[in-house]
Amino acid sequence: MRPATRQDLEQVLETERLCFSTPWSRTTFDGLLGRDTVCFKVLEVGGKVVGHGVLWWVGPEAELANLAVVPSHRGRGGGAFLLDDLLAEAAFRGVERVFLEVRESNGAARSLYENREFVPVGRRPRYYQKPTEDAVVMALDLATVVDPEPG
Ligand SMILES: CC(C)(COP(=O)(O)OP(=O)(O)OC[C@H]1O[C@@H](n2cnc3c(N)ncnc32)[C@H](O)[C@@H]1OP(=O)(O)O)[C@@H](O)C(=O)NCCC(=O)NCCS
Repeated sequence: MRPATRQDLEQVLETERLCFSTPWSRTTFDGLLGRDTVCFKVLEVGGKVVGHGVLWWVGPEAELANLAVVPSHRGRGGGAFLLDDLLAEAAFRGVERVFLEVRESNGAARSLYENREFVPVGRRPRYYQKPTEDAVVMALDLATVVDPEPG
């Protein structure tokens, strides 16, 4: 796990194509690099980038904006590893609440988020395209899961 660089973008874009029907563009990812309110991390295995995650924040609120692991490397803890890293960064930055949207039918992602104690707080009708589907909005109150005085 490490911060993404411009050199990672080709593989990040390939992961996007493998994971999403409406992948983010190079311009979008490029614009996130080096921003001080964005955490953009990649997961590297054997010298190859196989996953990425993006979280951004405004004051006490953050959004988990992207999380993806290539199909060949799923089910090995990579998604959870990425998510935990992004949540730790959020807590470090003083974020109190993290939000995300997830396709209603995306059981794998919803289980992952529920395991991390995200709870459904709303719904955005027809939020996704290709295919059209509602988004479930989930939120995590970091104050309830992060020990302010570890150890
Ligand atoms: C969601 C995603 C990132 C998970 O990545 P992953 O590396 O397979 O996840 P992990 O191996 O860390 O699994 C973590 C947890 O996710 C859940 N999970 C993962 N795959 C699952 C599946 N096929 N069915 C049900 N739950 C699943 C489980 O709760 C699992 O916990 P467990 O290992 O204790 O059972 C991956 O499936 C992915 O990239 N999907 C396509 C893109 C996507 O949907 N991103 C999320 C957008 S909101």
